[in-house]
Amino acid sequence: MDSNLGTVIVTGANGQLGTPLCERLSAKGYTVVPLTREELELTDPEAILRVLESFEAHTIYHCAAMTAVDDCETQQDLAYAVNSIGTQTVCRAALRMSAKVIYVSTDYVFDGLSNEGYDEFDDTNPRSIYGRSKFFGEKAVLASSPENIVVRVSWLFGPAGRNFVSAIIDRARSGKELKVVADQRGLPTYAPHLADKMIEITESKLAGVVHVTGTGNAVTWLDFARSALKLANIDHPTSATTARDYGLPAPRPNCSILHSRVLPAFGIALCPPWLDGLSDFVEQYPAS
Ligand SMILES: NC(=O)c1ccc[n+]([C@@H]2O[C@H](COP(=O)([O-])OP(=O)(O)OC[C@H]3O[C@@H](n4cnc5c(N)ncnc54)[C@H](OP(=O)(O)O)[C@@H]3O)[C@@H](O)[C@H]2O)c1
Repeated sequence: MDSNLGTVIVTGANGQLGTPLCERLSAKGYTVVPLTREELELTDPEAILRVLESFEAHTIYHCAAMTAVDDCETQQDLAYAVNSIGTQTVCRAALRMSAKVIYVSTDYVFDGLSNEGYDEFDDTNPRSIYGRSKFFGEKAVLASSPENIVVRVSWLFGPAGRNFVSAIIDRARSGKELKVVADQRGLPTYAPHLADKMIEITESKLAGVVHVTGTGNAVTWLDFARSALKLANIDHPTSATTARDYGLPAPRPNCSILHSRVLPAFGIALCPPWLDGLSDFVEQYPAS
């Protein structure tokens, strides 16, 4: 461990990604300032500038966001305030502190109409308010410094907080019917794997947009659910439904597969297989 790596700030420090990121940064020897919503409310620009500038940090890992995709459709002002204006203000503070920003973005910046998926050079076309608000955040991050990094991720799951996998396991255990969407495909990403990769990327020469997801076969939500139940030794019937019949308010990309041309260009390995992450997740998941 190097004990002289300086100070870094993590927003959304109690979230699914922020939690393992803080743990790993501390273990590496960084002095970590973990900020939760209580300490840093993203709808309050003045507070953002005041709080962030009170630390002498060289890097801000900006993980906090309004992630409730369907709520973003009904609370559009809040979605833009948090994900767009909040991110823009984080970047203003970072500029004044001479700090680099690592921003976590999403597959929802694409329309999902491709069959093969998207690399960093494909055109964006967000269809949901969440996707649009995060895309504006990307633009603010990229415009404020050529050193900044936008890490686009997809289908995040991890031990800290609720996610698709925990919802599936809990529902199966309660004996309730499980109908899962089978016409959307993506690459799941295990939050602890992503946290390791984000640190590696930040310590490298990489800047700009980069895609980071778990590796392995792309799956549908139904395949993903079945893999989780199998690993958890839960024998519970699952049936297929379509996104349209499932009827969630926000449009989601049919194809969420993110490829990376940028990681290999910088000699950085892709993430471990998502199935390894799923196995780790299920092993740690409470028995009841
Ligand atoms: N989850 C996914 O599948 C996925 C996929 C692609 C990209 N992403 C992106 O990855 C990043 C991390 O996602 P995650 O799954 O770790 O999210 P998460 O578990 O939902 O955590 C989000 C964090 O943001 C904080 N937050 C929400 N509203 C806030 C506000 N108004 N002011 C300050 N903080 C606020 C939350 O605080 P509270 O807990 O106090 O509310 C929480 O700490 C996000 O930027 C997200 O857009 C996620």
